[in-house]
Amino acid sequence: MNAPAWIDQHLKNPDAIADEAFLRGLPKAELHLHLEGALEPELMFALAQRNGIELPFASVDAVREAYDFHNLQSFLDIYYRCADVLRTEQDFYDLTWSYLLQCQRQGVVHTEPFFDPQTHTDRGIDIDVVFTGILRALRDGEQQLGISSGLILCFLRHLSEEAALATLDAAKPYVNDLVAVGLDSSEVGHPPLKFEQAFAQARELGLKAVAHAGEEGPAQYIWDAMDGLKVERVDHGVRCTDDPELIKNLIKTQMPLTVCPLSNTRLKVYQHMSEHPILTLLEQGVRVTVNSDDPAFFGGDVMQNYLALAEHLTMTRRQAAWLADHSLTSSFASDAQIAAWRQQMIDYLAQA
Ligand code: HPA
Ligand code: ZN
Repeated sequence: MNAPAWIDQHLKNPDAIADEAFLRGLPKAELHLHLEGALEPELMFALAQRNGIELPFASVDAVREAYDFHNLQSFLDIYYRCADVLRTEQDFYDLTWSYLLQCQRQGVVHTEPFFDPQTHTDRGIDIDVVFTGILRALRDGEQQLGISSGLILCFLRHLSEEAALATLDAAKPYVNDLVAVGLDSSEVGHPPLKFEQAFAQARELGLKAVAHAGEEGPAQYIWDAMDGLKVERVDHGVRCTDDPELIKNLIKTQMPLTVCPLSNTRLKVYQHMSEHPILTLLEQGVRVTVNSDDPAFFGGDVMQNYLALAEHLTMTRRQAAWLADHSLTSSFASDAQIAAWRQQMIDYLAQA
């Protein structure tokens, strides 16, 4: 499938490899970002000190060395331990605010971050503490940085559906502050259909739905997320390459996939970035987007993900603009907002 004609109409040198300045200036949205995964080691140490918590790491360098993962579970085991430094409303504020400042440096105009309330409530943190800290930072981000957002509550799939339903119940006072529910944590052995009731109830509350599927789990989980959970985006979804019928369906329905290239190489879904299928899927007509997943753990924010595609997959300026446009048009923002971003994109391409 060809890129949209308006990109080539406005963009000079569309076949040139995308460089850093071009990528940074592209208006883009981030649609797959775990706030707990944006906890940089420096902030983790600062929060540990503030809260009088002993960390299992001697230094920031030792933390970065420990982030050597061989699959999703080996990452999650460390990730949930690191989240233990998050205790107060101000901690959740500081975490979210530091991520929003990162967005500002990268040309991210809109973000739809995930958070995992169960990671915190299971440690005895009140869900109000989690919500109020995150929401205050998102409001400040909109007012002070001009970055709009929509918050997504994720259920932990290694826990039961009853636990997910209890979490949804506890989140009801904040339902108007959420745009969607999602599903994350250990994928294999925890299929989407385990959460059909929780997702049905969330939809009744007016929430949209997304789910991690086809990261390490099979292509069937992607079908099940779409058909059973009625998701509006699939998070990761890269295992669709195992199923030609699924690829055809993704192209026909234009179901967005929130792909995270550096996450996939760090968790050994692919051994090397040169094997990553994102640009092949893009050229086939699948609605793929570029995201960072857990930037503090995977060695890269959203810009570094775009840069890795330029370096290892010779991503062109046309492909980069196409991906960034997908991110904006696949967001849960209003049609009027999406139209305004399209104009912003055209203005940017015309002068880039
Ligand atoms: N997959 C599943 N759960 C997660 C991830 C991921 O990539 N990141 C944070 N929680
Ligand atoms: Zn993720």
